[in-house]
Amino acid sequence: MEAFNKIDGFLEEIKSANPADAEALETFRIRFVGSKNVLKGLFGEMKTVPNERKKEFGQAMNALKQAAEAKYNAVKETLEAASDASARQDMDLSLPSPPDPQGSRHPVSIVMNRMIDIFEKIGFVVAEEREIEDDWHNFTAMNTPADHPARDMQDTFYLKNSITNLLRTHTSSVQARVMTTQKPPIRIIAPGRVYRNETISARSHCQFHQIEGLYIDEKVSFADMKQTLLYFAREMYGPKTDIRLRPSYFPFTEPSAEMDVWLGTDTPATKKLTKGTGWLEVLGCGMVDPNVLKNCDIDPGKYTGYAFGIGIERTAMQNFNISDIRLLFENDVRFLQQFSSVI
Ligand code: DAH
Repeated sequence: MEAFNKIDGFLEEIKSANPADAEALETFRIRFVGSKNVLKGLFGEMKTVPNERKKEFGQAMNALKQAAEAKYNAVKETLEAASDASARQDMDLSLPSPPDPQGSRHPVSIVMNRMIDIFEKIGFVVAEEREIEDDWHNFTAMNTPADHPARDMQDTFYLKNSITNLLRTHTSSVQARVMTTQKPPIRIIAPGRVYRNETISARSHCQFHQIEGLYIDEKVSFADMKQTLLYFAREMYGPKTDIRLRPSYFPFTEPSAEMDVWLGTDTPATKKLTKGTGWLEVLGCGMVDPNVLKNCDIDPGKYTGYAFGIGIERTAMQNFNISDIRLLFENDVRFLQQFSSVI
């Protein structure tokens, strides 16, 4: 029977085919497996097959098709395995691996960690607190009267539909949190993010970081504060650094001061940083106002203390020569990668 002979012929051809490379296999695929394969032409032979043998013919056709696919898949697998093996032979296992991309610390974290280390060495303990605060901890407890300009809606981000919940405007709120939950002696530093409704520019942002310091005990004096801050300045800026304390005003301290460190005017950089004066403003500080102690149920007759607040961004920008504060919050990896060698 002519049609059956054709099937046998193709089957023979498929069995004996032995494609040796990818190209030969592709030729085989096009002839026997592809969408226009030669086996499809055999369906036309069906009409020459007598009715009683049509079923047998159909089954033979199926078997032929399966034989073609099986052959194709088997050869493909063998060829792929061979090519993998030869690739492996070309591999030089003694070559050093390409370097892993290194993560890097954010410049703000680098500076913050350095400051934390300095204060931890002399017994300050880190206190971390919430960024969403209430009016009382952020302002009232900190002796900031209701009509104080710092409370102005212009400066403070209040939560939607709330006049009491806000994003803390300074880490001083942690003072109130700690003093209402711990008994003196208290010796903490509180690093963290703060928020103010400021127009964003190269020099100011609506979010930034501070480290708050608080020390409360019996007989804590202004001299204690000065010595601690001098120690900090010398650890941070070099062992010969001089400081000066300028009288200032903060609602939560009395007396209040601002601390400058002496950088000099020897280089163009220090001249610019210090606006020609040689002095760089670093932090605000003072003796904790007795009203703050009272607000937090600590007896101001028995205890005194000092507090200070340091801004992080400005120091980070000085240390790493960053001219635009916005870079610190954009998280552009091309910027962040530049700090991968700093711990
Ligand atoms: N909270 C002040 C600010 O945000 C900084 C500050 C000044 C903190 C004096 C203090 C302090 O603890 O004693 O500008």
